[in-house]
Order: sequence, then structure tokens, then C-alpha cells
Amino acid sequence: MILFMRKLGIGMVGCGVVGGGVLAHLTRNRDLLQERSGVDFEVVRVAVRDLQKARGIEASKLTTSWREVVEDPQVNLVVEMMGGTTLAREVAEATLKAGKPLVTANKALLAECGEELFALAERNKVPIYFEASVAGGIPILKALREGLRANHILGIHGIINGTCNYILSRMADEGKSYEEILLDAKRLGYAEADESLDVDGIDAAHKAAILASLAYGFWVRMDQVYVEGIRKVSALDMCFAKKLGYTIKLLATIQPNSERAVEVRVHPTLIPSTHVLASVSGAYNAIAVEGDVVGNTLFYGRGAGPDATASAVLSDMAEAGIALDAGCVYRGFERHSFNGQTVPMAEVRTRYYFRLTVLNKPGVLARVAALFGAHDLGISSVFQPEDHDEETVPLVILLDYGKESSMRKAYDEIMKLDVVQTPCQMIRVEDFS
Ligand code: NAP
Ligand code: HSE
Repeated sequence: MILFMRKLGIGMVGCGVVGGGVLAHLTRNRDLLQERSGVDFEVVRVAVRDLQKARGIEASKLTTSWREVVEDPQVNLVVEMMGGTTLAREVAEATLKAGKPLVTANKALLAECGEELFALAERNKVPIYFEASVAGGIPILKALREGLRANHILGIHGIINGTCNYILSRMADEGKSYEEILLDAKRLGYAEADESLDVDGIDAAHKAAILASLAYGFWVRMDQVYVEGIRKVSALDMCFAKKLGYTIKLLATIQPNSERAVEVRVHPTLIPSTHVLASVSGAYNAIAVEGDVVGNTLFYGRGAGPDATASAVLSDMAEAGIALDAGCVYRGFERHSFNGQTVPMAEVRTRYYFRLTVLNKPGVLARVAALFGAHDLGISSVFQPEDHDEETVPLVILLDYGKESSMRKAYDEIMKLDVVQTPCQMIRVEDFS
């Protein structure tokens, strides 16, 4: 039985999709959280933009000023769920300078300003908790920082944007248009306030930067992450990929090369339909992590939406409450053995899928194949649908492993051939070998 229950005043900055989920589940599971943490959480102040919206909390606690929240003496812990990087950074800095722990779901903020914020947190000896920033409800950051601490990480492959995975899986299953499905993703609370962050791959790149930083012990900057979004993926490519035994996903790949530099890239990727990541559908996320001690691990769960994200935020709040109670020393960002280098995209070696639109006449394949060969790129399979009378036809080619810079040169030269028309498509292939 808990004889003494410490009260912890919570200040929330933002009460939209995520904040609303946190309030609802804090109310529902308050007793459980109290029993498990020995802390009684009370939301004392909430900053929003619009005071007229219903929030499920007393109107007297609402304010439009985030400073009032951070500076309120009754607030012991600030939970930032506002989004963006400008005001959110001010909120984070003011919180840490006030000596108050910060919980945040904001991956953009951490990917863009994590190094500076963690340095500030260390100077002020207050912790930052950010489990909700990557993969919604999946405790992947705790796993990387604690559960897999004894491992050199050999590679991470992840589906880490719920909105894109929701769009791609429904495009594949239902053949619906991209725009129609995006509207549903917004309605369900999966998409960012600015949905281009999702569909252009930026949100996944933010998360990849955070994962890579934790896995390899140095801060990976956003300009070291290669990113392509899903706007260019068409139903036709999904159909050809399926015929070839692949599924198209927005995949984050994080892996070291033999010189211990780390590749960090996010782009649409053909993955074998038999691979476990290919079966991850809807807003679910999955992250496969390989460690030198543990071998292969897989983390799976809902990656977006109010409930999954609230689970991670509440868990961080509980951890913050326990640490405050126990007077824990904050260890900060754990730097370790890597040399701080990332691999430029031009140096990456992977496989490629091409869908070319070519004139329907003899000799075309030989000319295309010759250009790939001239750049040391081997063809592993070729596919062309039969029964076409049109002037142009699609020519689908899968390449073996080759260097990105060679692929780019070959692609540019192929696009200049008089027998090649538009549109053409290139998507990378991951066979996990
Ligand atoms: P959201 O629904 O747009 O909520 C943002 C909240 O911040 C709203 O309550 C808004 O007030 C408030 N706000 C915005 N500007 C403000 C300002 N200047 N002063 C005071 N309040 C302000 O966004 P969300 O989906 O909850 O996302 C919040 C954060 O969580 C983002 O960093 C996002 O990347 C992250 N995240 C989201 C998810 C998800 O599934 N949605 C999952 C993980 C992490 P009003 O309500 O009055 O407009
Ligand atoms: N917009 C994000 C996604 C929310 O779709 O994954 C979760 O971080």
C-alpha cells in the first residue's frame, strides 16, 4: 500500500490530437498510474490557441500563453505537444532553464535541435523524455537506450511513418487514390498538422535521425539523412512490384558500413512480400533492429494516432515522476564508440527497380542494358507486360547491387535515349541480405 503519494503538477503545451489523447487516458488510467509510479498526476495548466474549443478540462486551466504554463509554480513537469520547431524550441528551452523536466512528442524539434537541447538539459541537470517522438506507442527508444545497451547495432530497418504506411497499404489493397486516403489519415489523427511532412518523408527522416543518434551514439543532423517521400509511388508500380514478389513501403534504413560510417536514408522501397515488414499495414509501424549480441529483434505496434501516442507520453510522465521522487541523477545523451560519420548517398550500394516507358520496337532492351552495363550495373530481372498494341510500353527492370552514383549516371544517360519516353520511375530495392 502506498502511504505517501506525491502530487505532480503537469503543464501541457498543446491539447490537440495527442494532448487530447493524453488527457483522456490520464483520466481513465489515473489510478493505475498512481499505483505503479507512486505519483498523483494533476493537470494544472494547459496552453492552446483557441480557448473556445471543448477540451474535457476546466476552462479556468486553459491559457493561450505557453509561458504561463512553464512559469506556473504549480507546474513541476512540462509536456510539449504543440509541434513545430520555433515556439516549441522556446518552450523546451524555458522549461529546462526553469529546472523542470520536459516530456515531448515532437520529433521535428529533437531531430533539428536535439543536440543543443540535450546540452542545455545536461547543464541544468533536468531530463528530457521523448518516447512518443518515434513510432507512436512502440517503446523503441527505451529498447535502444536500455534493452539493447550491450549491443553494437548492426542495422535498423523501419516503417516509421503511420500516415505513409496507411496510404500505401490502402492504395495496394483498394486501389483508391492517394488524395482520398490522405483525407482519412488526417481525420483519424495520424497525419501531421502539415501533412507534407508525412508524405514527403520528412517526418520519417526526423525519426530516423533520432533512432540513428541513439543507436550510434552521436547526433545525426537532418542534412545527413537522405529523404524521398511517397508522392511519386503509383498504383502501377505497386502492381508491377507485386508481380515481381515485392511490396512497396516507405522504409528507413540505418546501418553502418565497414568504415563505421552510418547510412541514414528514408525512401520508398521494394521489399520482398515474404519479409515480415511487408505485412505491416495501416497506421502500424515496425522496426527491425539487429544487434551483435541479441541477433534480430522486431518491434511492432500502432505508430500514430491519439491512443498509441498517449501511451508513450503517459509512460514518460510516470518515469519523470518516479525519477523526481527518487532524486535520480540525469545521465543525458549517451555518446559512444562511433566516429560521427555518415555515408553520403552517392556512396550507398543497394538494388534498384526501374519502370521505363519505351518505344514498342526491337532493340530497345539491348540499348538500355548496355548503358547499365557501362556503369557496372547488372540486371537481375526484366519484365514487360504482353498484349500491348500501343506505341509505347512499360519496361520493368530490377538491378543487382550497385553504387548510387553509378545508378544516377546510368539513369541520366538512359533518359536521353530517343527510344525512352516519360514517365519513368526508379525505386530502391531492399532484400535484407
Ligand atoms: P495538433 O492536433 O495540431 O495539436 C497541436 C496543439 O497545439 C493544439 O492544441 C493547438 O491549439 C496547440 N498550439 C499550437 N500552436 C500553439 C501556440 N502558439 N500556443 C499554444 N498552443 C498552441 O497536433 P498533434 O497531432 O497533437 O501533434 C502534436 C505533436 O505531437 C507534434 O509534434 C507531432 O509531431 C507529435 N506527434 C503526433 C502524433 C500523431 O499521431 N498525431 C504522434 C506522435 C507525435 P488549438 O487546439 O487551439 O489549435
Ligand atoms: N504523422 C506521424 C505518422 C505521427 O503518421 O507517423 C506519428 O509520429
